[in-house]
Amino acid sequence: MVLGVGGYLPERVLTNAELAGMVDTTDEWIVQRTGIRQRHIAAKGEVTSDLAIAAAKAALANAGIEAADIDLIVLATATPDNTFPSTAVTVQAALGITHGAAFDLQAVCSGFVFALSTADCMLASGRFRRALVIGAETFSRILDWTDRTTCVLFGDGAGAVVLERQEQPGTRADRGVLTSHLRSDGRHKLKLYVDGGPSSTQSVGFLRMEGREVFRHAVGMITDVIEDAFKATGYGPDDIDWFVPHQANRRIIDASAVKLGIAADKVVITVDRHANTSAASIPLALSVAAAEGRLKPGNLVLLEAMGGGFTWGSVLLRW
Ligand code: ACO
Repeated sequence: MVLGVGGYLPERVLTNAELAGMVDTTDEWIVQRTGIRQRHIAAKGEVTSDLAIAAAKAALANAGIEAADIDLIVLATATPDNTFPSTAVTVQAALGITHGAAFDLQAVCSGFVFALSTADCMLASGRFRRALVIGAETFSRILDWTDRTTCVLFGDGAGAVVLERQEQPGTRADRGVLTSHLRSDGRHKLKLYVDGGPSSTQSVGFLRMEGREVFRHAVGMITDVIEDAFKATGYGPDDIDWFVPHQANRRIIDASAVKLGIAADKVVITVDRHANTSAASIPLALSVAAAEGRLKPGNLVLLEAMGGGFTWGSVLLRW
């Protein structure tokens, strides 16, 4: 079951108006096409693990448990501090944990959904007891700040949840993850990618995207994996208390909710304030909904994400 949630956003806020002074764009264009009004940007020297550690500490405090109670850290990121070691082991060390396992997982914007599903399987196996599942990103570091078609879309941040195993390994949980459905299709890999990396260019590279192509595929892929979740559990759109989608674009979120028949007042939206924080967007949105008192124990919560690869997936969970 989910014991707690927390988030962290860098202090610096970059508004659309400021961006309009950097590239040929306007607040009106960005809001109309994406719903984004501002994003947070990590300070010089502030790295992904700094954001992840802050979010992890907030989640532990919210769960009311000690770091020593954690024996698994799965950290989703496409912007690690270094090529290796993993950002997860930096978080582990900062929390003073010397037992259990910690590793990074990379599925870009779908990272948190992939990480939650992975951690759930590892807990269900009976080999681990309590997991920190973290999404943390500093996409500001891989943006081409002269490219108006991409630099307006992303922000930095981190979110984390604490997940605990049900007492009976192998039995299905009545709280926590009820079902998850993950998909990938590498034929789409050049529609959204970073043009660098240790093996190809020995550099970090910049994010490149065919925005219209991503948009064209997004709603169909998202709704497919949500239909899979409904089929697997027997739940439907009316049963959902909160729909917490990956926060990439307001138009994609609204179109997905309409296609699925999920009422607009059940949709958690943070893209206006955070922009697209990739793997961090869902746990950040969960932390906002929990802090505002909307997300309550026992609620049925539907998560979905789609991103580079393409990768996409859904998680249905009982909070
Ligand atoms: N400001 C002003 N004009 C812009 C900007 C900008 N920031 N960016 C592009 N334009 C221009 C284009 O150059 C183009 O001009 P032209 O017609 O003279 O050539 C015009 O606006 C329209 O461009 P389109 O790309 O057709 O605009 P579209 O309506 O598709 O919106 C957007 C672009 C917002 C990127 C949209 O395609 C989108 O949201 N795609 C999904 C991408 C996404 O969310 N990716 C995130 C990662 S994947 C994920 O998380 C799901």
